[in-house]
Amino acid sequence: MEQYIMKGGNPLVGEVVISGAKNAALGILAASIMTDEDVIIDNLPDVSDINVLLEAIAEIGAKVERMDRHTVKINGSNIHNISVDDEYIRKIRASYYFLGSLLGKYKSAQVPLPGGCNIGSRPIDQHLKGFMALGADVKIEKGAVIVHAIDLVASHIYLDLVSVGATINIMMAASMAEGQTIIENAAKEPHIVDVANFLNSMGANIKGAGTDIIRIKGVKSLHGTQYSIIPDQIEAGTFMCAAAITRGDVIVRNVIPKHLEAISAKLSEMGCEVIEFDDAVRVVGKPLQRHTNVKTLPYPGFPTDMQPQMVVTLALASGTSMVTESIFENRFKYVDELARMGSKIQVEGSVAVIDGVNKFTGAKVKAPDLRAGAALVIAGLAADGYTTVDDIEYIQRGYEKFEEKLHALGAVIERVDTDKEAAKFRFRVG
Ligand code: UD1
Repeated sequence: MEQYIMKGGNPLVGEVVISGAKNAALGILAASIMTDEDVIIDNLPDVSDINVLLEAIAEIGAKVERMDRHTVKINGSNIHNISVDDEYIRKIRASYYFLGSLLGKYKSAQVPLPGGCNIGSRPIDQHLKGFMALGADVKIEKGAVIVHAIDLVASHIYLDLVSVGATINIMMAASMAEGQTIIENAAKEPHIVDVANFLNSMGANIKGAGTDIIRIKGVKSLHGTQYSIIPDQIEAGTFMCAAAITRGDVIVRNVIPKHLEAISAKLSEMGCEVIEFDDAVRVVGKPLQRHTNVKTLPYPGFPTDMQPQMVVTLALASGTSMVTESIFENRFKYVDELARMGSKIQVEGSVAVIDGVNKFTGAKVKAPDLRAGAALVIAGLAADGYTTVDDIEYIQRGYEKFEEKLHALGAVIERVDTDKEAAKFRFRVG
């Protein structure tokens, strides 16, 4: 089993270039099959979630041509199957986007219910409510969601809670419904805007993405396009925290600083220097960093996908910080792993109370999920001695060349497959 092994203690210094946004790419790839013409997408992140979704797209009959690791040409004219295989949904939750894209284009889709995820229960009732409002019949049979409509007709949909997935799914289906759909209480995340821009570049008529009211005038068909995906806000935030926690100095390039404001604000409150450029952010970590409080919220609030990286950073700041997780109920599981490094964190329901410590000591830990896995890696880079992080396939779902990018910043880290390789690393590093 692959793991990361690292020797902590080096401040990260230098520049890192951020890849395309995984969560935007997942929505955009699912939407790319809604036309019969060629679609070229670039700035794709080369991460396993994307590669699995591309396999699922090929599996239903679309032509998928990898032009290079970051560019793909997709043609959805020969889709022969509106049913997505179980195997893909189990690997990747975002396959539920096929419900919206296939329903929009073919008025029919069948996708296995996304399984439980280890950050909490993740129902899809709002997605289904949206499809029903558009006139689709929704059935759940043998663990699959089956949606079918004779005609999709526009509707006024009020989401009971702010959901990224439901907003994107409804936007896709409504793009090809008859009339004007209004989504109220829509999510406003940068990737909602990116998926809307992508659909508009295919001839859709979506207005208001990025605000909480989105208006979608349905069109009869969509056409081919060429589109470049926005930079990954969460990958960027992870490197910003890595700079802070290792007391380093990192310029994070190829970002949209506006998307990072919630993270920049918290790091500044902690006493880090955060300097914004047009398409870069520089973070200078200070020896003594202060406690602060954080509450995760839908965008433009502090992103839940940055919560673990922020918690590990606060765990090495002076004083007591409180972090409230208000999106997913089970997202503090990594705290037990972090305790092995000497952190002092008490979790009470949705609140983590963090008593900052002066140092972490290296330990053997396991990545419980994607973002918590990345957080444990940056904690290991700030710890005295060796840390190993197991179950890194979670991290590879969302971070392109993670260890290579960290290594280029001066981190002493390697991906190893065997105990012998780990022993060699220790011998070499001393
Ligand atoms: C997306 C992101 C994920 C991020 C999350 C919140 C992708 C592929 N994933 O996930 O990385 O952590 O947004 O920013 O983009 N909910 C319901 N019913 C629904 C839908 C959601 O109750 O029908 C609840 C969820 O359980 C959760 C909250 O709403 O508590 C937000 O979920 P949502 O925004 O839908 O997250 P995802 O789209 O699954």
